[in-house]
Amino acid sequence: MSRDSGRPITLLGMAGALRRASTNRGMLRAAAELLPAGVGLTVGEIGDLPLYDMDLDPSGGDATGSANADVADWPTPVARLRRQFDAADAVLVAVGVNNLAVPAPLLNTLAWLSRPDLRGDERVRLLRGKTFGLMGSGGARGGADGREAFSMSVGALGAVVIEESVDEPFFSEAFDPATGDVIDDALRQRIGSLVGALVRAVRD
Ligand SMILES: Cc1cc2nc3c(=O)[nH]c(=O)nc-3n(C[C@H](O)[C@H](O)[C@H](O)COP(=O)(O)O)c2cc1C
Repeated sequence: MSRDSGRPITLLGMAGALRRASTNRGMLRAAAELLPAGVGLTVGEIGDLPLYDMDLDPSGGDATGSANADVADWPTPVARLRRQFDAADAVLVAVGVNNLAVPAPLLNTLAWLSRPDLRGDERVRLLRGKTFGLMGSGGARGGADGREAFSMSVGALGAVVIEESVDEPFFSEAFDPATGDVIDDALRQRIGSLVGALVRAVRD
C-alpha cells in the first residue's frame, strides 16, 4: 500500500506472552524506543480479551459471519483492540512460541481479529491487506516456530508479512532476565532494522 512520506504512521504492537518480565514484551518496548521520525507505536493489550466464544461474537454464528457486527457489539476489550488494529498502518508482533505453536493469548487474539465487520453491505475483514512485521523470543530456535506458524495464519487471512524478521533465544544475554528488557546493542539494531523495513513497506 502506498503512503505519502510525510504522513504520520501508526504501528500496533502485540506480544504473545503476558508475564511481567516477558522477553517478547521487552522486544516490543525496545521497538518503541527505535521508531523513525513520524512513527508512533501503540501497544495492544491482549491479556484481558475473553476466550474466543462464538456466542460472544456479534458477527454471526456461521463460519463466514452473517449478522451486522457493529464495533459496539463486540466485548469491550475486543472492540478496543479491533479499533486499534483497524487504525494501525502496520502491525509489529513479538510472537514467541509454545509447544511449537503460536502462544495461546495471540492465537485467541487472532480468532477475534479474523471475524468480519459488516459496514453497509460490505463485509470487512480487518486482516486483509494488513502489513505485519514479526519478531520474537523462544527456545533454541529463538521463537522461529511460533513466528512461522503465525505468519502462515495471517497470510492465509490475507495479510502481508514482510520478509525481514528477528528471532532471539529468551535465555540469551541480550535480555535482562529480571525485566525482559533488551540490553544488547546488536539485538536493538536488528529490532530497529525490522521496524524500519516495516515502516518502509507501508510508506513507500
Ligand atoms: C507451555 C510452554 C511451551 C513452550 N514451548 C516451547 C517450544 O515449543 N519451543 C521453544 O523454543 N520454546 C518453548 N517454550 C519456551 C518459551 O518460548 C519461553 O518461556 C519464552 O521465554 C517465552 O517468552 P517470554 O520471555 O516473552 O515469556 C515454551 C514455554 C512454555 C511455558
